[in-house]
Amino acid sequence: MKVSGNTILITGGATGIGLALAELFLSKGNEVIICARTSENLQKAKDRLPKLHTMKCDVSKESEREKLHEWVISNFPEMNVLINNAGIQRMIDLRKGPDDLLRHLKEDCGDEIDINFKAYVYLAAHFIPDLIKKKEAAIVNVSSGLGFIPIASMPVYCATKSAIHSFSVSLRHQLKDTSIRVFEVIPPTVNTELDKGARARRGQTDRGIPAEVVAKATLAGLEKDESEIAVGMAQGLRAGSRDNFEQIFSRMNG
Ligand SMILES: NC(=O)c1ccc[n+]([C@@H]2O[C@H](COP(=O)([O-])OP(=O)(O)OC[C@H]3O[C@@H](n4cnc5c(N)ncnc54)[C@H](OP(=O)(O)O)[C@@H]3O)[C@@H](O)[C@H]2O)c1
Repeated sequence: MKVSGNTILITGGATGIGLALAELFLSKGNEVIICARTSENLQKAKDRLPKLHTMKCDVSKESEREKLHEWVISNFPEMNVLINNAGIQRMIDLRKGPDDLLRHLKEDCGDEIDINFKAYVYLAAHFIPDLIKKKEAAIVNVSSGLGFIPIASMPVYCATKSAIHSFSVSLRHQLKDTSIRVFEVIPPTVNTELDKGARARRGQTDRGIPAEVVAKATLAGLEKDESEIAVGMAQGLRAGSRDNFEQIFSRMNG
């Protein structure tokens, strides 16, 4: 697909990979709209990139997804690319029963299944009738190398990312005779705000690659129409999930 002249909505675009994508797409002559829940982060992004359009939205809530959809379509009727990127990552110990699940739900105001998976599905469904009318359109779903081989201390996160992979395969098939292309971006560990506290708690010293590297690889993949854009180490996880699952799983889960 072309990587300039688009109007792009990036969910969770105020920090990390979403912001790096926003910056790169702006530099290539695209209109970019971002959404997130935190006004302060949206304002910081806007201060850094004044051409950004911002909208406060919690994509885990259907009422807010509906509002986002209506606002985007009435203000940016030419919008032709949806990037489902917003995500959270939690360590969940299921030996404690529902304690961790409920604690995160209360303290963090968010559920991994709702944010990381349900929002991707519902936003795709909201925008498909608009995107299908465009000459060239795309839905880009950001999954993770951990969707291919999981880290067991983050069982729900990894499962949502596997689900995004499966959903992207089906969506691509359903839309194959339309103008909408479906891409999956598969990042490795990236140095972002994604549950930094937990990374420190489990002694993870690898901070990961810069978000700008993922953004660059994403644009290169989109330009080459690569359906699955696996970046860096994620290429090994995707291939290993087919050929060498047990060995890599044991290594990753100590
Ligand atoms: N970092 C990694 O190692 C890594 C690796 C593979 C895949 N990924 C994936 O990459 C994507 C981006 O993550 P990141 O690493 O860039 O982390 P990040 O810096 O924390 O960015 C995530 C963004 O999503 C937003 N968000 C979270 N919940 C939301 C909600 N309910 N509604 C709207 N926005 C929401 C956050 O803003 P608010 O909190 O203000 O809403 C934040 O701006 C995620 O899907 C993540 O799973 C990351």
